[in-house]
Amino acid sequence: MNTEAPYRLKATGITKSYGAVNALADVNFELKPGEVMALLGENGAGKSTIVKVISGLIIPDTGQITIDGEPVLLSSVRASQTAGIAVVQQEFSTVGTMSVAENLVLGQSNAPAWWSPQKLNDQAKLILARVGLEDIDPRRSVDTLSVAEMQLLEIARVLAKDAKIVIFDEPTAALSDAEIVRVLEAVKRLASEGRSVIYVTHRLGEVFEIADRVTIFRNGRSEPPLLVKDLTVDKVVALMIGRELGHLYPERTEKYGAPVLETRGLKVPGIKGDINLTVRRGEILGLTGQLGSGVSEIMKAISGIADVLAGEVLLDGSAVNLHGRRRGIVMGIAYCSPDRKKDGIFGGISVRRNLSSPWLRRVSRVGFVSRAQENSEAARSASNFAIDLSRLNTLVGNLSGGNQQKVAVGKWLGIRPRVLLVEEPTRGVDIGARAEIYAQLRLLCDSGVGVIVTSSDTNEILGLSDTIATYYRGSQTANKPVQEWTEAALVREVMHRED
Ligand SMILES: Nc1ncnc2c1ncn2[C@@H]1O[C@H](COP(=O)(O)OP(=O)(O)OP(=O)(O)O)[C@@H](O)[C@H]1O
Ligand SMILES: [Mg+2]
Repeated sequence: MNTEAPYRLKATGITKSYGAVNALADVNFELKPGEVMALLGENGAGKSTIVKVISGLIIPDTGQITIDGEPVLLSSVRASQTAGIAVVQQEFSTVGTMSVAENLVLGQSNAPAWWSPQKLNDQAKLILARVGLEDIDPRRSVDTLSVAEMQLLEIARVLAKDAKIVIFDEPTAALSDAEIVRVLEAVKRLASEGRSVIYVTHRLGEVFEIADRVTIFRNGRSEPPLLVKDLTVDKVVALMIGRELGHLYPERTEKYGAPVLETRGLKVPGIKGDINLTVRRGEILGLTGQLGSGVSEIMKAISGIADVLAGEVLLDGSAVNLHGRRRGIVMGIAYCSPDRKKDGIFGGISVRRNLSSPWLRRVSRVGFVSRAQENSEAARSASNFAIDLSRLNTLVGNLSGGNQQKVAVGKWLGIRPRVLLVEEPTRGVDIGARAEIYAQLRLLCDSGVGVIVTSSDTNEILGLSDTIATYYRGSQTANKPVQEWTEAALVREVMHRED
């Protein structure tokens, strides 16, 4: 990075309000050529909002932006693209029903309309290989991809463009270590080509790997940029959340009761061998693996969402017949999906209703539910999960990404399940709120619930679980108590490396 270089982008006095919410309050932001600038801050601090301003998705109430010294009016996505800006969004912009190849070349001027399907697919394959997705058939429809694959596709799409400023809004939230490496390499490559990168993340380790400077956002305000080489993780956390974090992971009680959920000889499409898992009351079982490991398929089978080919699921020692999610919920199995957009939460309804919906479904069989009861139930979940109580009436779709995630996880605790299955519980959640989610999961567990967690974050799996099972391409590779794991061993099993 050339620290003497003039600004590639400079934003001054940017404000943006939504009613009473000041999403951005006098934000100043700068970016030099060839630098990676990390944007950090708690959920709802305004990071995605400034990204949307720069990408032309929203028009700020006030403020100016210059690029290479020239004032620009980023009044539309097209205007922003013309100014040389490309964005990997936090929520995907891929089009579900189109093929992978069509998505990749959509909106790219160098892909003439007369290209044959063969040419289109060949071109798409080249782009896919840049993010390690060479195994994906470009003719596949995008909605058949996993969340991680979609995120990599989104990145491939942006890399294929020739932009001088590339913005990443939490590109690695859905990815595991092996895929993250590819993203970080792509970012480094962009910077070494002299392009400027704005990189939003809650994974603080990444900042120290790729960023030159950081800009911290707090409540819609920006701090002056800081050089990464002058910082430590603890310092960054304190600046972000305004206090010392203390313990990220709660203490384990290690008091387990009888098995609450067992699978015996369960066969699931895509998984090799039988699935024999046990989770006891008071235990957090962590499942982990990289892309294509099969942990998500296992969770869906246990929750009753996906069909199983053979075998049985036992709840408190008795075999149960799970057919469909409703049945799972009635039996006391709550499942929180990794794809909150598809089936985690409902963006068009209020935070209150989202938080109380599983609970309502359960109690409404008993009869009348008062509004007051619903309110107090929602408020309880909200306060347990660091969700702003003043925003219970807000539509979930208007919350920031991480705050949506808190709602997605929080809503399942209202039904006090026998077993909680939760995938990627803290995806996109800031470090302070993550500590609260972990504490809630441990509390739930200590009250006798069995918890199964999947996570692509090896630190999270190590910090949270009592027992850890690893999977690689549909096979279980290990299953043992956390005390018998080291971080290196876990990474090795997950990546299935011999060394
Ligand atoms: N359309 C909208 N209507 C109302 N409020 C909104 C809207 N869009 C954003 N906000 C609010 O603006 C604030 C900033 O949101 P933003 O998405 O920028 O946060 P963020 O820093 O990206 O958080 P996260 O880390 O959770 O992604 C939040 O309080 C959010 O609820
Ligand atoms: Mg965001």
